[in-house]
Amino acid sequence: MTRTAWLNGVFVDAGEARISPFDRGFLFADSVYEVTAVYNGCLIDLDLHLRRLERSLNELGYGTLPDPAELARVHERLVRDNRLVEGYVYLQVTRGAYGGRDFVAPPRPVLTCFAFAEPRTLLDTPAARNGIRVIAAPDIRWARRDIKTTGLLAQSLAKTEARRRGADDAWLVAPDGSITEGASSNAYIVTREGAIITRRLSNDILAGVTRATVFRALAAEGIRISERAFTLSEAHDAAEAFSTAATALVTPVVMIEGEPVGGGAPGPVTRRVQMAYARAIGADPEMIAAFGAA
Ligand code: PDD
Repeated sequence: MTRTAWLNGVFVDAGEARISPFDRGFLFADSVYEVTAVYNGCLIDLDLHLRRLERSLNELGYGTLPDPAELARVHERLVRDNRLVEGYVYLQVTRGAYGGRDFVAPPRPVLTCFAFAEPRTLLDTPAARNGIRVIAAPDIRWARRDIKTTGLLAQSLAKTEARRRGADDAWLVAPDGSITEGASSNAYIVTREGAIITRRLSNDILAGVTRATVFRALAAEGIRISERAFTLSEAHDAAEAFSTAATALVTPVVMIEGEPVGGGAPGPVTRRVQMAYARAIGADPEMIAAFGAA
């Protein structure tokens, strides 16, 4: 089955899309991206993703920016043309190609813009039902994790190591022993007293869109999340843990470095977060209730 992608203003067969090997995205990872979840044929929080894209481009001094209204139309059409019901739309913007390799970025870039749609079950997955196992990997990334660049080698290696060790994902640990975030998600623990904790926003982590929506959804139920750093040993002592990302929504974490978190099964607070998030995206929270408690 062919699928429609979008490259530099044109809808194309994804298999036919071509970009230059001189593209700065390829040579320097001079590029940023967004992944927007699609549930029930609807793009989730697209406006927040496009706003974060614009921020990433501005932080990198691109100067030239794609038109957000056009990007929104492209997202809608990719969902429609690819008959996407559940999955995500990936968007990448690079500082373009100039027929050579120059560390100095051009003052007026001609952007490369690429987007495609990918079907994927997000809400009712084995990970959402049963939880995942994570390893702890040293956070060796650059110092601007708030910018969503495609410089993802550290994350890719951490996830590959997780898989090699029979786990599902990696949580990244700063030199001071605190957990920054997941390799492609934000990280949370629930203390034995029932407090939900996640790291405060800074250059250390990505300001997750799913994180923002979880904050809003819980606030509507009168639940506050404490924003502070937590250590790997606090995570080991926690009653529950979970992560959030557009590609996995709210996912219980049931094992860290081979040790069970709490009872080693998704806990009641995590289930409540999953239900609140499901409600926020227009899904049926009863589906989560049917997953069962710990
Ligand atoms: N990653 N932290 C990191 C390092 C991430 O890469 C991501 C998302 C998040 C969560 O952000 P959001 O809730 O906006 O998806 C946090 C995407 C999904 C990816 O790289 O595929």
